Amino acid sequence: MATNSPKSDSIEYIRNGQKVVVTQFGSTDTLLDHLRLTEGSYGTKEGCCEGDCGACTVVLGRQQDGKMHYRPVNSCIYLLGMADGQELITVDDLTGQGAPLHPVQQSMVNHHATQCGFCTPGFVMALFALYHSEQDISRDTINTQLAGNLCRCTGYRPIVEAGLEACIQTPDDQFSARAQQTAKTLADMPDRDLFIGTDARFFAAPKTLNSLAKLYTDHPDATIVAGATDVGLWITKRLMDLPKIIYIGEMAELNQVQINDQKITIGAAVTYANAMDAVGGLDADIKETMRRIGSKQVRESGTIGGNIANGSPIGDMPPLLIAMGAEIKLQKANKTRTMKLEDYFIAYGKQDRQQGEFLTEITIPKLKCGEHFRAYKITKRFDQDISAVMAAFHFTIVNDKITAARIAFGGMAATPKRAKHTEAAIICLDISELNHNHTAFDQLAQDFTPMSDMRASADYRLTVAKGLLKKAIIELSDQDADTRIINARSSNLRAS
Ligand SMILES: Cc1cc2nc3c(=O)[nH]c(=O)nc-3n(C[C@H](O)[C@H](O)[C@H](O)COP(=O)(O)OP(=O)(O)OC[C@H]3O[C@@H](n4cnc5c(N)ncnc54)[C@H](O)[C@@H]3O)c2cc1C
Ligand code: FES
Ligand code: FES
Repeated sequence: MATNSPKSDSIEYIRNGQKVVVTQFGSTDTLLDHLRLTEGSYGTKEGCCEGDCGACTVVLGRQQDGKMHYRPVNSCIYLLGMADGQELITVDDLTGQGAPLHPVQQSMVNHHATQCGFCTPGFVMALFALYHSEQDISRDTINTQLAGNLCRCTGYRPIVEAGLEACIQTPDDQFSARAQQTAKTLADMPDRDLFIGTDARFFAAPKTLNSLAKLYTDHPDATIVAGATDVGLWITKRLMDLPKIIYIGEMAELNQVQINDQKITIGAAVTYANAMDAVGGLDADIKETMRRIGSKQVRESGTIGGNIANGSPIGDMPPLLIAMGAEIKLQKANKTRTMKLEDYFIAYGKQDRQQGEFLTEITIPKLKCGEHFRAYKITKRFDQDISAVMAAFHFTIVNDKITAARIAFGGMAATPKRAKHTEAAIICLDISELNHNHTAFDQLAQDFTPMSDMRASADYRLTVAKGLLKKAIIELSDQDADTRIINARSSNLRAS
């Protein structure tokens, strides 16, 4: 790698209190394959291999300010190189031969929470991460934590009961006993660029924006990876050969969250989990939508940056962010440019991003006085499902009149898109009378010609879009009622 920063040709992680160094591996090797095929750790299971079932869940620990923070990830779509600089914990590591079971495992036994056992390692590791978190434990917290773990035999009640029993305990295991030492060892690991492989085939993880800009200029054909929750499936399901991987997840400059009175700016590598407080804090519907993106495992590695950069017409965040008036910043070599997010999406599979250009940050204005927001995610299944329609409404209402409107939909066109005809039709109208104004609702058919696919028919999409516009209007037409609705919605929010 032609940069001046110190660099390494091996990754290091800690497992069972020992430093593990891996020098040679393929650019797209997954953590799961490494565990099972190289390390012979067969406890971690391969189920769907696409991030859906959670059987492959492992826990990664990062140190921050001398403390360890644990998060569950799907090792089937998590690339091995991404584990660099972290503590790796698998179900095989929780206890030794003849030693007592880990408290989470013991609770699973106490509650008869396993039958064939195939899903059990994944459930145990998802619960292990919660056992080590500082979250308040309730049935809702456990449900949220386990939404990405599927069991075909036991039924979920005993598993949830086991989680409740285990996770209310204060962590007291070998990992908490040596957490300080682990944090110190991780903190002492050198901060350096990684480059493993050759110029033709490599896994690289630059640690500074300068190194990333130089590397991507030299290799504009490389695939950028943030959380790999999309790219991982290109590898495991589409069997794509991605010879050059540039992983950006560990770059401090892209992991910042900045908040001021007017706006929030988040780096392109900030995970959903780390963005939740700031971005979810903008509005209750944004928080709830983010909580329903994938599963805990997906949100702990996936990024809003990846959701935008992939250009998908069914990503959940772009419609929300377009309605909020978000802007993005792109960089190529040392040149940067800023654009409205809505201008980034040109056509299906086509975005306004040049070769060698990457996304660095997303800026979202805060809602001002008189501005109201609503967002609705329509899926067949409540948790862990991709939207058939994603709708976002941002109205400025002064004396009951809509003085400004930004409406954006996902799943209704080849790109996430504003409903400009509909917006124009409702401006200056009294919101309390709009509910009966069919001309305004009919404009949605001017804005969108949705397609039919496995998620929904075109007719359904258009009908539901009209219904959601109506819902937003009804909810916002009575400001006193709105306060009550917001309170009701907030109390329904589950913890992230
Ligand atoms: C089980 C499962 C459930 C899911 N559920 C949802 C859901 O409910 N809603 C939803 O919207 N999505 C969902 N997804 C899709 C995925 O999680 C999101 O799109 C996520 O935001 C992708 O982020 P990432 O960091 O993992 O992206 P990656 O997979 O790392 O990258 C995605 C794309 O963006 C590019 N990219 C990433 N960062 C940059 C950058 N800074 N500059 C330029 N290009 C970049 C990559 O090259 C790639 O093309 C789900 C995925 C899985 C596996
Ligand atoms: S094997 Fe199903 S989520 Fe990884
Ligand atoms: S116990 Fe059989 S899949 Fe869960």
